[in-house]
Amino acid sequence: MAKETISITDNRTGKTYELPVEQGCIRAMDLRQIKTGADDFGLMTYDPAFLNTANCKSAITFIDGDKGILEYRGYPIEQLAEKSSYLEVAYLVMHGELPTKAQYDDFVHRITVHTFVHENVKGFMDGFRYDAHPMSMLASTVAALSGFYPEAKNVKDKATRRIQMIRLLAKMPTLAAFSYRHSQGLPYIYPDNDLSYCANFLNMMKRIGESKYKVNPVLERALDVLFILHADHEQNCSTTATRAVGSSEVDPYSAVTAGVTALYGPLHGGANEAVLRMLREIGSMKNVPEFIKRVKNGEGTKLMGFGHRVYKSYDPRAKVIKRTADEVFEVTGKNPLLEIALELERIALQDDYFMQRKLYPNVDFYSGLIYEAMGFPVDMFPVLFAIPRTVGWVSQWEEMITDNEQKIARPRQIYTGQTRRDYIPVEKRA
Ligand code: ACO
Repeated sequence: MAKETISITDNRTGKTYELPVEQGCIRAMDLRQIKTGADDFGLMTYDPAFLNTANCKSAITFIDGDKGILEYRGYPIEQLAEKSSYLEVAYLVMHGELPTKAQYDDFVHRITVHTFVHENVKGFMDGFRYDAHPMSMLASTVAALSGFYPEAKNVKDKATRRIQMIRLLAKMPTLAAFSYRHSQGLPYIYPDNDLSYCANFLNMMKRIGESKYKVNPVLERALDVLFILHADHEQNCSTTATRAVGSSEVDPYSAVTAGVTALYGPLHGGANEAVLRMLREIGSMKNVPEFIKRVKNGEGTKLMGFGHRVYKSYDPRAKVIKRTADEVFEVTGKNPLLEIALELERIALQDDYFMQRKLYPNVDFYSGLIYEAMGFPVDMFPVLFAIPRTVGWVSQWEEMITDNEQKIARPRQIYTGQTRRDYIPVEKRA
């Protein structure tokens, strides 16, 4: 049987080293023994943006980008989206197993009774200008929660950790809706604990004069499905940020704030907004071929909502979202931009440029169209991503905190600056 090792010959010294290979990886620290002499620090790897570096072992989410597979705790995303609910998936992601009926009821109850935020949080919201981006308000108020729960810094205690995780899941929709209400100059609507997770969020967003806002069950379910699709996505930018900040053993509110701010960026949570802008710019079906030509010629634009760092096949979430879009449009009427999107997809999927580069629609290609049809402004799109991703952030954070192999995140660098030189007094500087 072949040995699970790799031999490396250092041509600088002629020495050969045999390193163990575990699950397709070598340990970067095993390279440190490869030295040219006693003064040599030892070999490191250089991997900007972690393109080929596993930063952790994780049992939460599995992705096979070539085959278009996404699984949470082993369950395929398609089955979860069809048969499960967001809170059941949240339980699964957090605990590793699907809940029994009693466990599920208890989990839902605990989330439901933690939806309210301290009245002072409204004061933070009120401090923002009317035109502040809701993601700024969300990030700031999530960070502020750490001041309300000082015991949260006790990250080594499981019971303390778990209650903060529940609070974050429960309060995120409240903070998200408050940020929207503030930006619209509307009064804040308190959580209604008779409603489901998504219905309560829609109620806090939309209710204006009516004593009970009627949530359309199709839209409630569509939001639940979108939340399932966004619950976790292994070591993406915002999760990596949450893990890195959490590795200092700061409280989870502060760690999750890093996740929210990372998600704010246009290369991460902001891509569906870019898709909508692109579709508006194309304007009509007849302009699609010309637009595709510009993309292929590299004339300053990409086909937004296409391509993915990990998926080199159809993003499985995009397939589910397409079905959800049809159901939503039955209720809201078709988003007029849909036919442009469908035509773009039809042409791109037959075109050599996109086929050779394995560029397929990603989750963002259709999600913005759904959110817009449901009446959410584009500024809220990353917020709508942050709510469900919270369970991914807190679960990955807890996995990191309880992993004995993890330490404070502290990468190395290749220094490219000046070599040592002496200080020059200002009057002698050229
Ligand atoms: N349109 C046109 N060409 C593209 C696109 C696109 N959307 N995406 C990649 N390409 C081309 C690149 O120009 C490159 O071509 P080349 O080999 O001729 O230079 C080739 O395909 C490989 O692309 P990379 O940039 O190396 O792929 P990378 O993994 O770095 O980028 C990314 C992935 C950022 C998602 C990219 O595909 C992109 O910018 N897509 C559009 C933005 C988008 O939809 N982002 C959402 C991602 S999903 C999410 O975050 C939830």
